[in-house]
Amino acid sequence: MISHRSVSSHTPVLLSETLRALAVQPGGRYIDCTLGGGGHAATILDHSSPGGQLLGIDADPKAIEVAQERLQHYKNSILLVNDNFVNLQSICIKYDFSPVHGILFDLGLSSLQLNGNGRGFSFQYDAPLDMRFSPHQKVTAADIVNTAPEAKLAHIIREYGEEIYSHRIASHIVKQRPIKSTLELARLIEQAVGSRRGKIHPATKTFQALRIAVNHELEYLETALRQAVDLLGFEGRLVVISYHSLEDRIVKRLMQREARGCICPPGTPSCVCGHLPRLRLINKKVIKPSAMEIDLNPRSRSAKLRAAERVITQGDCYDTTEDQAFITIAKSRGWRRPALMKKIRMAFLAA
Ligand SMILES: C[S@@+](CC[C@H](N)C(=O)[O-])C[C@H]1O[C@@H](n2cnc3c(N)ncnc32)[C@H](O)[C@@H]1O
Repeated sequence: MISHRSVSSHTPVLLSETLRALAVQPGGRYIDCTLGGGGHAATILDHSSPGGQLLGIDADPKAIEVAQERLQHYKNSILLVNDNFVNLQSICIKYDFSPVHGILFDLGLSSLQLNGNGRGFSFQYDAPLDMRFSPHQKVTAADIVNTAPEAKLAHIIREYGEEIYSHRIASHIVKQRPIKSTLELARLIEQAVGSRRGKIHPATKTFQALRIAVNHELEYLETALRQAVDLLGFEGRLVVISYHSLEDRIVKRLMQREARGCICPPGTPSCVCGHLPRLRLINKKVIKPSAMEIDLNPRSRSAKLRAAERVITQGDCYDTTEDQAFITIAKSRGWRRPALMKKIRMAFLAA
């Protein structure tokens, strides 16, 4: 286990496993799409030095502030952007930051957001029902809870919280609104479904559902993952840590699909899709935290890490046999930046 100083109170999850999965190397270029407290970013910068560069993105301006302070030692190697990772591609175009050696998504919330700081993410602290990652977003959890029709509310709680009592909860909410605070909502859910449900608090699933709906988490994740695959250079790594089954399903499906050749429906006599693999799965099974890590950091207990590596397909900048031969040579010399490799090759051919 790699040791790390915790300037912020967020402890990075699966840290050594993330570094290994990203295959961090000196001089590499990395994107941390979920900068949070900057814990993963600091370790990536440590291991990519000398010459490493990191683009850090977070939708939450407070996270950027905290990470900026934590990463000031690396100020010449970082670029921190307060934006949503759904805009990953345009951010990279704006800052001319591609292709890259690795992209990390460590999804969900940081401890900075969860710990009673008035953001409304947790039912353990009283706060207004907000739950937005960014103050620039228009819709808050209170807007959804207090204005959505009952059927829509039940749908959100069912789909994004996988809550079997979604209808009962939605009906209680509608009868008792307006609901202003986290504790008010948590109490109401307890009344609706009872206070004991195994180990988890009865409000856990509804809070997860509202947070996902407020931040469009699932749609944005899928869009950003697709963009990430495009931004990876040859042998670049995509690493995603997810914390619940809805996120993990999206990551798993996307990686598996991108790792397959033909994706024609079963029974199609011959391939009509022309799909080519763009990824190779690094770990077929998810990587989970050890018992020791869970003991030290209980918030890591639901983490699942998946990683994949970019492979070259026709239609990338290498599409001839000659190109493939060039890639083999370049690979044997450890060159991993396709655009640069292509430029060198063109210069070599023109000479
Ligand atoms: C689990 S924390 C990351 C912690 C970080 N890896 C560390 O070591 O400190 C997740 C972060 O991702 C951010 N985030 C979640 N969804 C986002 C999105 N769609 N766009 C940008 N940032 C997002 C959250 O604001 C939060 O700060």
